[in-house]
Amino acid sequence: MGYLRWVSFMLVAMFSASFAQAAGNVEDGKFVFKSYCILCHQDPDHPDEEQIRVRAGLDLRGVYGSESAIGLGILNEQKLIQWVTKPRALKPDTQMIRLPLTEKQVRDVVAYLETIPAPHEGKGMKKAPLQTRRCHSCHDFRPNGKKKVGPPLYGVFGRKPSIEGVPFAVWNEDTLDRWLKNPRAVKAKTKMRFSGIKQAADRQAVIDYLKSLHD
Ligand code: HEC
Ligand code: HEC
Repeated sequence: MGYLRWVSFMLVAMFSASFAQAAGNVEDGKFVFKSYCILCHQDPDHPDEEQIRVRAGLDLRGVYGSESAIGLGILNEQKLIQWVTKPRALKPDTQMIRLPLTEKQVRDVVAYLETIPAPHEGKGMKKAPLQTRRCHSCHDFRPNGKKKVGPPLYGVFGRKPSIEGVPFAVWNEDTLDRWLKNPRAVKAKTKMRFSGIKQAADRQAVIDYLKSLHD
């Protein structure tokens, strides 16, 4: 990717990120995380499989927008704020404690959670291209990935759509290209809230990556 294209891509990414996180301050949130949450949840900056096993809490990478591992439903912003403010209100027998945080600190830490990407690069998976950054809040790319806002995408290339209402028999180069260019042009009422990828080369980079996600 040319430098200017990269810069404009990053600006768009930063703009949409700051838009989505208008409610809290990410840097302050990171500080809250490293002061409190780290006691039980592993440090997303130093992910370590060993730590995941020894710490009491769950791996929180990619938690935002995903299905809760403990039955809280889809973890959107509001749900995360409720959870961090008062875990017992959502799950009376939980081991997660209520922390002495101010309302602002809760909003900040949730804003920070929203920025932690999923550990989508599982063993043997090729490095995800920059163009897939926007997909991660809604899709899990790993083998046996979970449903997040959208379906898991490991093995999607070459299989039939798992979603209703798309006029395709199989996801291949051509149908994925049409979908990623403008999902709504393919399915007017799609739940995929995504404006599409304008540049053909960027779509190709995403498709090549999806193609690589096979056993
Ligand atoms: C005393 C340990 C402890 C601390 C401190 C702690 N957590 Fe947790 N957290 C847990 C445990 C244990 C669970 C799993 C709860 C259960 O199974 O009921 C959990 C679950 C969660 C979940 C739900 C994940 C899912 O998939 O549903 C989120 C989100 C979360 N914690 C965020 C935080 C944040 C943010 C902080 C810091 C502000 C924090 N936790 C501090 C122990 C802790
Ligand atoms: C805001 C959330 C969101 C974003 C961002 C998003 N998707 Fe989706 N995606 C969805 C949802 C929701 C569906 C299900 C759509 C439906 O049922 O109409 C979906 C469906 C799909 C499907 C069909 C899967 C199947 O099993 O049939 C593919 C392929 C896909 N998305 C790829 C992508 C890629 C690649 C990106 C990033 C470039 C992306 N999506 C970004 C939410 C999202």
